[in-house]
Amino acid sequence: MCGIVGYVGQKQALEIIVAGLRRMEYRGYDSAGVAVVADGKLEVRKKAGKLVNLETLLGADPLPNSTTGIGHTRWATHGGPTDRNAHPHVSSDDRIAVIHNGIIENFQSLRAELESSGVILESETDTEVVAHLISKALPSVDHDLPRAMQAVCSRLEGAFTLVVVDSEQPDLVVGARRNSPLVVGLGTDGNFLASDVAAFVDHTRNAMELGQDQIVILRADSVVVTDFSGNVEQAKPFTIDWDASAAEKGGFDLFMQKEISEQPKAVADSLLGRIDESHRIKLDEFNLEPAIIRDLKKVIVVACGTAAHAGMVAKYAIEHWTHLPVDVELASEFRYRDPIVGPDSLVIAISQSGETMDTLMALRHAKEQGARTLAICNTVGSTIPRESDAVIYTYAGPEIAVASTKAFLTQITATYLVGLFLAQTRGTMFEDEIRSVLAELNDMPSQVDLVLDTTEPVQKLARKLASARSVLFLGRHVGYPVALEGALKLKELAYMHAEGFPAGELKHGPIALIEPGIPVVVIVPSPSGRAVLHDKMISNIQEVRARGAQVIAIAEEGDESIVPFADHIIRIPAVPTLMQPLVAVVPLQVFALEMARERGHDVDQPRNLAKSVTVE
Ligand code: AGP
Repeated sequence: MCGIVGYVGQKQALEIIVAGLRRMEYRGYDSAGVAVVADGKLEVRKKAGKLVNLETLLGADPLPNSTTGIGHTRWATHGGPTDRNAHPHVSSDDRIAVIHNGIIENFQSLRAELESSGVILESETDTEVVAHLISKALPSVDHDLPRAMQAVCSRLEGAFTLVVVDSEQPDLVVGARRNSPLVVGLGTDGNFLASDVAAFVDHTRNAMELGQDQIVILRADSVVVTDFSGNVEQAKPFTIDWDASAAEKGGFDLFMQKEISEQPKAVADSLLGRIDESHRIKLDEFNLEPAIIRDLKKVIVVACGTAAHAGMVAKYAIEHWTHLPVDVELASEFRYRDPIVGPDSLVIAISQSGETMDTLMALRHAKEQGARTLAICNTVGSTIPRESDAVIYTYAGPEIAVASTKAFLTQITATYLVGLFLAQTRGTMFEDEIRSVLAELNDMPSQVDLVLDTTEPVQKLARKLASARSVLFLGRHVGYPVALEGALKLKELAYMHAEGFPAGELKHGPIALIEPGIPVVVIVPSPSGRAVLHDKMISNIQEVRARGAQVIAIAEEGDESIVPFADHIIRIPAVPTLMQPLVAVVPLQVFALEMARERGHDVDQPRNLAKSVTVE
């Protein structure tokens, strides 16, 4: 989740770098720094805290003009968020400056080696060893920076994106990546390196994604890519399909508000081009042979957080449509469980950022076991889709707020398309059944729009309950993952204890939590879906009400049976059972956002959290 920017060209580097770092603030960080090369010297400024602290330092102690530089926002892993631990880190001879995203797992042994050779390391970080190692390697490679980078990277273990500059080679920025994002921006008056295209999209939409174990050699007018042995390689160009304004708030106070409002379009865009004129699913990117799809014996979803909740929703649909068993595994647990995975398994990695290390490592484990892998991802060119056999991109557009909203709806949409595609290929659904579900999906953007038009009561209720100590969420069937997601949003944003339960579990323990006045949010199943689920939920509501709970029912229009048992009713459109998560979650997103605002929290960048967790 660190932010990385590098630039070499005709323009002043500092302005470009700081603006790029600001575009990536959403990733979460706790220190920032820059280095430029000027008059044969490195000039470095770095500061703990937010970018404004660095800018204050730059105002007091300005950098010289320079057209070559690097910048970094750090989310602390090794060593606390201090000035000394902030990046860039510099070699003892003040020649090499390096910035890094990831974790160098063998840094302790490298640190010991350096110290035994008399090097004094200034910081507690893993990153600093790289600056010293490159500086020491230069003489043995004729002071060729790319070759020194290649030599050092070959010794590193773990996950790293590295970008370095050399005071003695001012026209050069060199980057390297393993298990961590790095993209190249190809500009008309210079070239860029960044951990996220948002850093340079203002300057160019022509980009290149770097692959595993690649080095990139950036000059103002050239970009060369090699492997760690120096063999020249190709990198895949792509065009960034959203512009800088998409990353702005679009008139809202908060990115999260904007992204909640974008959900109808996000769902619609994620359906675009995936249904052909005869209403069959067309997933060109799903490049697994039909015979392989027909031979699948199980589906496993690996994901974290909100993405895992989307997978849990998809489980009900995919099992219903394909008769394939679907396991949903938290990625951080998956590979330590000795899972039963093989060539007849389809492992679906769901990730908005495409860089979540837990999910990436689970994906790799599945691949080692021979599984077919499919990524469902919102970030083109990120690591998880690149390492999967196939990918279905969601088209939610950039999701800046740390709390995931529109990505969740598009992940459900995409997994539903995958489920229907599997059913279509395996023949477990009639074409008219598939057409009917597709019609329901196509109707969801307008249904979500209806919910967005009626959020005022939810906002009022959130302000009323802002002093609550805890909120419980109950759901059944596809409403259970929605309950988990509602609780997660409240934890993330209001820093409040919240817990989601399958309503049937109440009597097995959680009902002891019910005390007078405790707010309990209930996602009420549609009475016309599976009446038994609806009736059982009414009983659950009566159980908690009898013990003094304040019941907030998320119930469909026209369901009057709920009225005698709820203190507050939030109405959602009546939609088919499997579509309900797409409308039921929206009030919960708004509820958590409003609760956080009422509590005076930073909604877009909640404490302790990062948008993309690129460490395990
Ligand atoms: C959700 O609001 C959180 N930001 C977090 O749980 C997130 O969903 C999780 O870290 C997975 O991120 P990913 O989708 O980018 O892999």
